[in-house]
Amino acid sequence: MQFQWYPGHMTKAKRQMQEDIKLIDLIIELVDARTPMSSRNPDIDDLGRNKARLILMNKTDLADEKKTEVWSRYFKSKGYFVVCVDARSRGGFQQIQNEIMKACKEKIERDLRRGIKNRPVRAMVAGIPNVGKSTFINTYAKKACTKTGNKPGVTKGKQWIRLNKSVELLDTPGILWPKFDDQRVGLCLALIGSIKDDLLNTDELAMELIQILLRKYPGALADRYHIEETDALQTLMAVAESRNCRKKGGELDYSKAAVLIVEEFRSGRIGRFTIEMPKEWES
Ligand code: G4P
Repeated sequence: MQFQWYPGHMTKAKRQMQEDIKLIDLIIELVDARTPMSSRNPDIDDLGRNKARLILMNKTDLADEKKTEVWSRYFKSKGYFVVCVDARSRGGFQQIQNEIMKACKEKIERDLRRGIKNRPVRAMVAGIPNVGKSTFINTYAKKACTKTGNKPGVTKGKQWIRLNKSVELLDTPGILWPKFDDQRVGLCLALIGSIKDDLLNTDELAMELIQILLRKYPGALADRYHIEETDALQTLMAVAESRNCRKKGGELDYSKAAVLIVEEFRSGRIGRFTIEMPKEWES
């Protein structure tokens, strides 16, 4: 399956981020826990050189818990601070605060050595579209906290949200583009719904999804649709039958079944899945 991307305003977004990064100490990078590598853009490592780094594995409510732990260990082994969250709930707030302080320990100590006390850590949220950046900002910041407003000269035109006395967050997230050079990335992002469906062939997508689930989560489709799992095509046909997906004349409608499977996968109704693992990225 071929995926294409039309960068359009990407250069502008990147330039904006380069500007904003100058104002901050810490990047809070959101990734989708179902596909943590494909939902990153490695450019962020370059853009965020010399900044403290925290990865939030978001949408953990939809991901495989055990695999989320594996990914969390993996990112930590690469030197990132990591917290697993569901950005729609404020559950991990304390942990996020703690990790922010740990990630910025050096900066805080440097400030103290220079006699600067209580200067808040400044952070920005970043990530590719649809990973939950706005949801995170709304849940963790806007509802509970007050905006600090513009500070002329220093943060011209920028709004900062005070999370507490030690942390301020830029209210606009940094937007990164997915890395589409690798077709695996395109497939993973299409599966989680990060690429517009009108650019996709849902029949093919469903076939790819079924193959992945049969391989990585045998039994999941059988349980959900009360079918026998065989190969991908037979499985799709069995789902069409089991859910009575039919065209007007009464014959089975496989495209309808394809849409159903993809939608139920995205919403977590088939189960909680993680569709890529760190070892698949080690060449
Ligand atoms: P973005 O700013 O990074 O582009 O992402 P945004 O916050 O708009 O979130 C994209 C979608 O992901 C939204 O759903 C949002 O509700 C959902 N979402 C964000 N965090 C989580 C999470 O931890 N778990 C789950 N299950 N979903 C999450 P939407 O359908 O596009 O919008 P809405 O109908 O929920 O408003």
